[in-house]
Amino acid sequence: MSRAAGRPPSTGRSASAIHPSIHPLPLAKEDAMPSVTVINGPNLNLLGTRKPEVYGHTTIADVEELCRKEAGGLGLDLVFLQSNYEGQLIDWIHETGAAVKAGTSIGAVYNPGAHTHYSYAIRDAIEGASLPVIELHISNVHAREDFRHHSVISPVARGIVVGFGVPGYALAITGIHRLHESSLVSGVRK
Ligand code: DQA
Repeated sequence: MSRAAGRPPSTGRSASAIHPSIHPLPLAKEDAMPSVTVINGPNLNLLGTRKPEVYGHTTIADVEELCRKEAGGLGLDLVFLQSNYEGQLIDWIHETGAAVKAGTSIGAVYNPGAHTHYSYAIRDAIEGASLPVIELHISNVHAREDFRHHSVISPVARGIVVGFGVPGYALAITGIHRLHESSLVSGVRK
């Protein structure tokens, strides 16, 4: 399943979609494959054309395909999302947190884009929804401008993948899967 949102539904305007299929996030189903959600924040729809010297030439559709392969190899369904709107991203964080509680999702890999550096609303949504998140950045934010060195998301992330380029998405999916498996083994769901 993949979605890219334009404005929130309440505005009544139609969503501008990279991936036009719009479905509800998965609800509890005992026999369904568990899912992992990959959430992309603002401007990541421009992957492939935006600063290719920093982010490479890979498009968001390529990223989705890579994530689908990685998730599939781990026996996971993929929910792939991108939005430029903070409220939409917050709704998806809440929904994914609820899916984790219902046992249908193992959590999220999240590239918050520039929200990383200032969005307390996104930070609070992750914490409020108890969503297990791997924070991911394609570029090495610490080798870039000063404002990119600080993340308000990291304190509520379970792990961080930074600077591995687009292949980092696959590493992050494996990472959240391992964390999920280990929390099941120890009987503690963190
Ligand atoms: C980014 C890094 C952020 O600083 C930037 O605002 C992005 C992308 C990355 O993937 O490297 O949009 O999260």
